[in-house]
Amino acid sequence: MTDDRTPSASSATAPDGFPPSPGGHDPEVLRRRALDALLTARARTTALTDSVDEGELTAQHSPLMSPLVWDLAHIGNQEEQWLLRAVGGREALRPEIDGLYDAFEHPRAARPSLPLLAPAEARTYASDVRGRALDILEAAPLHEGGRPLERAGFAFGMIAQHEQQHDETMLITHQLRSGPVALTAPAPPEPTDAASLPGEVLVPGGPFTMGTSAEPWALDNERPAHRREVAAFHLDTAPVTCGAYRRFITDGGYTDPRWWAPEGWDMVREHGLEAPLFWHRDGGQWLRRRFGVTEPVPDDEPVLHVSWYEADAYARWAGRRLPTEAEWEKAARHDPATGRSLRYPWGDTDPTPEQANLGQRHLRPARAGAYPAGRAPSGAGQLIGDVWEWTSSDFLPYPGFVAFPYREYSEVFFGPGHKVLRGGSFAVDQVACRGTFRNWDLPVRRQIFSGFRTARDA
Ligand code: AVJ
Ligand code: FE
Repeated sequence: MTDDRTPSASSATAPDGFPPSPGGHDPEVLRRRALDALLTARARTTALTDSVDEGELTAQHSPLMSPLVWDLAHIGNQEEQWLLRAVGGREALRPEIDGLYDAFEHPRAARPSLPLLAPAEARTYASDVRGRALDILEAAPLHEGGRPLERAGFAFGMIAQHEQQHDETMLITHQLRSGPVALTAPAPPEPTDAASLPGEVLVPGGPFTMGTSAEPWALDNERPAHRREVAAFHLDTAPVTCGAYRRFITDGGYTDPRWWAPEGWDMVREHGLEAPLFWHRDGGQWLRRRFGVTEPVPDDEPVLHVSWYEADAYARWAGRRLPTEAEWEKAARHDPATGRSLRYPWGDTDPTPEQANLGQRHLRPARAGAYPAGRAPSGAGQLIGDVWEWTSSDFLPYPGFVAFPYREYSEVFFGPGHKVLRGGSFAVDQVACRGTFRNWDLPVRRQIFSGFRTARDA
């Protein structure tokens, strides 16, 4: 397809050329998908905000996070700005609150002292906006020749992704809060053949297509599709487990500057770090706190809540390194049988519960080796879902990047300060997760649902 939001593929750029979604760009299929995605997101937002009382909604559970009631009204405000005003041409419902919910005007730590909408008002505002947004969706022309924001339902998909991203943020707030258990979920599936899995796979060298120009709701930083040369490398079959990470700790990993980037070593000393966030030692064993429950650290589950610096140090200790972002994506998407890049490791179809641990169906990653149906042609597994995976790469634009529809989504974060995470966690909904999806954060961050896998040159 051609996509004039982004420069069209140059002659050096192969199109990724897959059917972007079941039904392609049929406006009625996309309208239905947009409606489903918006309803799914709102059900999750409601569950996350109805599971605690008013005091907990307005409290700040950590200076790293907003009060939950801020996220709720911010979700509504973004939806109002993009779907009601930009797409629908409507007047502002409450112009006076825009500034309160502008993430760039107020740092998270300052948000509790703003005159925020109270919980009942925030709920009414968000549902008011939603009612109007659904009216606009019903009438919007989503066809190819339409306005860029409406074409293929982009703005509706973007807003569903935005809400789901804040739902993950709110789940992080839930993980940081203390108090009685508010959320529960069944355990994820157990691996069946983990014992026979090789520890690493070889990804042969050669070019592949990175990014996408075809996926209708891909965000600006995933575009455009372009060719990348990637030399042969080995990649872990599964994310690094808590058990493996514990050996790094036991071996004195946190006391030996040899393994650490200088800024990482500074962070370890300044904060006295000795394990992932939410771990603590109890006599001879390591325990962790997970959504209000304290339990032994499970050895064969992917490690969670590590910063980029910790992932980088572990990899160096192990005689390995973090994969680059391009290596990660090639291992996840490149299909040597056809030479093209897949939407997901298993193919072009949307994720099923047999293929990936997504959508907060479970409140933890599945053990390493789970989800055999989700493996990539490379042989690597659990690339999608479970834990966000730190890569060695800085968050940078692809060649031909065009900010759309606003610079503050991606562009203002490009540069060496932010590291790229790939693959999504158990807390990511599928609408905001695909083989091309790029997340980023500061290398010191560890409250996020972050883990990693390691690589080495072939
Ligand atoms: C892409 C997850 C880094 O939460 O800061 C939400 C997503 N952007 N509202 C974030 C986002 C604007 C963003 N991340
Ligand atoms: Fe936001």
